[in-house]
Amino acid sequence: MITSSCIPVQQCASYCSLFLEDKSCMSACEVVKHLEPFRLSLEKLKEVSTRLRKDMIRGLGKHTHHRAAVKMLPTFVRATPDGTEKGDFLALDLGGTNFRVLHVRVMEEEQKMVKMDSQLCAIPQEIMLGTGEQLFDHIAACLSEFLDSQNLKGQTLPMGFTFSFPCEQKEIDKSILIRWTKGFNCSGVEGEDVVKLLKEAIHRRGDYDISSVAMVNDTVGTMMSCGYRDQTCEIGMIIGTGTNACYMEEMKNVKRVEGEDGQMCINTEWGGFGDDGSLEDILTEFDKVVDRTSINPGVHTFEKMISGMYLGEIVRLVLMKLTEKKLLFKGEVSEALRTKETFETKFISMIEDGLENAKKILTELGLTWDLVDARVVRLVCETISSRSARLCAAALATIVDRIRANRGLPHLKTTVGVDGTVYKKHPNYSDELQKAMHFLAPDCKIKFLVSEDGSGKGAAMVTAVAQRLALQSRLLEESDGEEDEEEKVRS
Ligand code: GLC
Repeated sequence: MITSSCIPVQQCASYCSLFLEDKSCMSACEVVKHLEPFRLSLEKLKEVSTRLRKDMIRGLGKHTHHRAAVKMLPTFVRATPDGTEKGDFLALDLGGTNFRVLHVRVMEEEQKMVKMDSQLCAIPQEIMLGTGEQLFDHIAACLSEFLDSQNLKGQTLPMGFTFSFPCEQKEIDKSILIRWTKGFNCSGVEGEDVVKLLKEAIHRRGDYDISSVAMVNDTVGTMMSCGYRDQTCEIGMIIGTGTNACYMEEMKNVKRVEGEDGQMCINTEWGGFGDDGSLEDILTEFDKVVDRTSINPGVHTFEKMISGMYLGEIVRLVLMKLTEKKLLFKGEVSEALRTKETFETKFISMIEDGLENAKKILTELGLTWDLVDARVVRLVCETISSRSARLCAAALATIVDRIRANRGLPHLKTTVGVDGTVYKKHPNYSDELQKAMHFLAPDCKIKFLVSEDGSGKGAAMVTAVAQRLALQSRLLEESDGEEDEEEKVRS
């Protein structure tokens, strides 16, 4: 029965159909009321997008950058692939709980990048929270093992290093870690040059050496690896353990780097959006608990509403609240549900994929449930994942619209390279994101290209593009020289 106290009535009516007859509509409405703060209207999303636009300008500015929540870091990547790159490369990839080494071959004739081989090394929790020296020794040991297994120790292949944390890049091979995110907190690394720490660890071993290293963020790797397949790709986006995006900005707007011509890829570090309190109006009580109980309170506010490291925990906190209010599981909380981080983000995808999965997961979490409970849990998951997708859309809309305005175009057609488990594994995430994009960036037509192993292969591609540019400028210099000589001969 729908009563006038059910607020909002239309919404309640549509949710009521999700529930069973034997539960009163009133309790369905109660559930809906608790979820209301997560439901962001398109108007609100537009506002969020406008705030981000202002923050991006602040991040790019010479004098406003140091106070900006959205860091807008120059990457020194000045060009995307043109399809003529080629050669063999090593790629390192550190950004989650694993470290990977890859041997990548870029084949011009077939326009493809082939992973020749790769090795995965787990990064145990004690290393993630230990000293920087331990971390880099672990990485150097893993690299040594891989080079041995591939018989590559005698060669010095150019290397790309994907390091998926916010870094102030001084050059392509000099990159200072601003701060750790996503569960890492190794001492003695913040404020230091990560390439130098890697090289020192390799020298400490003394059993092999490396030549040039190009450092990239995973968003840049994703853009570059997709860019080899589709040369209109000029944005890279990650929605995985963390979230972030990069894009090609006009040099004249990158005030912190000298030069006005051409473009440079900017790592936005949009995860930090809201760290100055600008998202206070959309933060729920649950977001505040997630932040307070994280290892980096006050840092990466936007990321904590969106990415895989936090979504499961938000759902758990909401389920706890609904249970306390006797709207779920007859008011009985299990030990597992009471324990932090036991509700994994992958459960959200599984539950939204089918009610049968929900039943299995709830049983595994030691909960006594009925069909209505399973439906309410699915509704909670849908609400949290859909907020994540819509917030991401608001941020991406800001970027594409900025590129459009930069070029003075009425309409923009562009490609976004995407990676990350949340985007790839969730059943409706990409649909939800793309739907919201139609409203938020109506003047932009966007193609989404899912990256295959982008953060690994992409680092190799950054190195390959740098090599191509170096070769081209050498050729240019040589031909300049020839022209000079010809002139001399003529005169
Ligand atoms: C975090 C990192 C950022 C990275 C993102 C995705 O937000 O700060 O550098 O790109 O996670 O992995």
